Amino acid sequence: MNITMIGSGYVGLVSGACFADFGHEVICVDADASKIERLKRGEIPIYEPGLDELVANNVRQNRLSFTTDLGPAVKGADAVFIGVGTPSRRGDGHADLSYVYAAAKTIAEALGETFTVIVNKSTVPVGTGDEVERIIRETNPKADFAVVSNPEFLREGAAIEDFKRPDRVVIGVEDPRARDVMEEIYRPLSLNAPPLVFVGRRTSELTKYAANAFLATKITFINEIADLCEKVGADVQEVARGIGLDKRIGAKFLHAGPGYGGSCFPKDTLALIKTGQDEGASLRIVETVVAVNDARKRAMARKIIVALGGSVRGKKIALLGLAFKPNTDDMRDAPSLAIVASLAGDGAQVHAHDPESMEQARPLMPEATFHDDAYSAIEGADALAIVTEWDAFRALDLDRVKNLLKQPIIVDLRNVYRPADLRKRGFTYVSVGRA
Ligand code: UDX
Repeated sequence: MNITMIGSGYVGLVSGACFADFGHEVICVDADASKIERLKRGEIPIYEPGLDELVANNVRQNRLSFTTDLGPAVKGADAVFIGVGTPSRRGDGHADLSYVYAAAKTIAEALGETFTVIVNKSTVPVGTGDEVERIIRETNPKADFAVVSNPEFLREGAAIEDFKRPDRVVIGVEDPRARDVMEEIYRPLSLNAPPLVFVGRRTSELTKYAANAFLATKITFINEIADLCEKVGADVQEVARGIGLDKRIGAKFLHAGPGYGGSCFPKDTLALIKTGQDEGASLRIVETVVAVNDARKRAMARKIIVALGGSVRGKKIALLGLAFKPNTDDMRDAPSLAIVASLAGDGAQVHAHDPESMEQARPLMPEATFHDDAYSAIEGADALAIVTEWDAFRALDLDRVKNLLKQPIIVDLRNVYRPADLRKRGFTYVSVGRA
């Protein structure tokens, strides 16, 4: 199949490279000329394990190419995927669809006479497919096309694996010809036999938001249980295991921590709430999840302050991990942002280190001092806080950490160490939801 991917950001680039790896011919388009130049030179603008190699391999095999020129790329395509961003609109939390609609218009202008499937891969509110269809029909009344919804469920840091071994592929399609094209595009997956879930377009659009809101709810639920565990002397990891083995609940997304962040959960929960409000169907559980998660990030700063005796004024705090989760350089809605702002607001000097995200973090947290190395951040600190669970922080040289710290205090917001081990080594150890 000939596939054109509009938008070479996170979703577009990963999907484009993976489709090429399936054997399709893929052209990735982006309006940002410098980004396309970099991609042509083999430079990947984001940090995602394995992506550089995947892109290089497929470029070498002539299955993957990059261009700023949308017209010719659309003309020969069997399917044109829209993978542009849908950020939260400033002020009201609605998804900003201007990039999607602009893409629809330019695609329409470039469509030839042959049947073309236009696929929305971006996360878009219910009804966006209808509007995309309307825009294309209005712009180019002669075009033969169908609009499909095919949301992406991949996680940053595990994107390639998630794309190639999905639990399911959701496809919202109303046109039988488009269904055939989508089946052909995903045929290489049949080896792993994930179900292709064919549904109506609106159902598909809503499924994506419902999935993210459910996962955000699951995390927020276990975070509240963690708080209760601390009060009653229970262990949240054991509770999570105890409930997660029930197949109706499932073991994943039950890690208590500093609250969810990232490019999807915060923005998609807000957008879903807005859709509910617009439609007169209030989503009170999701609204509460958002409020609880926001409050939690500040509560985590409080946890560090309490561990230091109630005040951090003039104290030095080493903070390891800034990205919203490991294996990404993404700082969007990372809990570290609220934590650093609270600590600095209370007069602490924050000394931070992250393996990949410091360049992104620097302008977002001007109060912090950045270190290229974890141990240099820890040196002379009054306490160490672990905020993101990078593997490197699971295997710290704890004797060295103890020698470098002014006081042996560790606040571990991701539960990467065992309380008994750290106490035996003489640390004051505070974690999440463990007595
Ligand atoms: C998520 C969804 O998983 C994916 O399906 C969707 O398409 C996009 O959003 P992503 O944001 O990349 O992916 O990261 P994910 O691994 O889901 O983590 C999101 C946040 O939740 C992170 O801040 C993470 O630390 C937190 N989290 C996750 C927890 O606190 N506990 C958990 O058990 C799981």
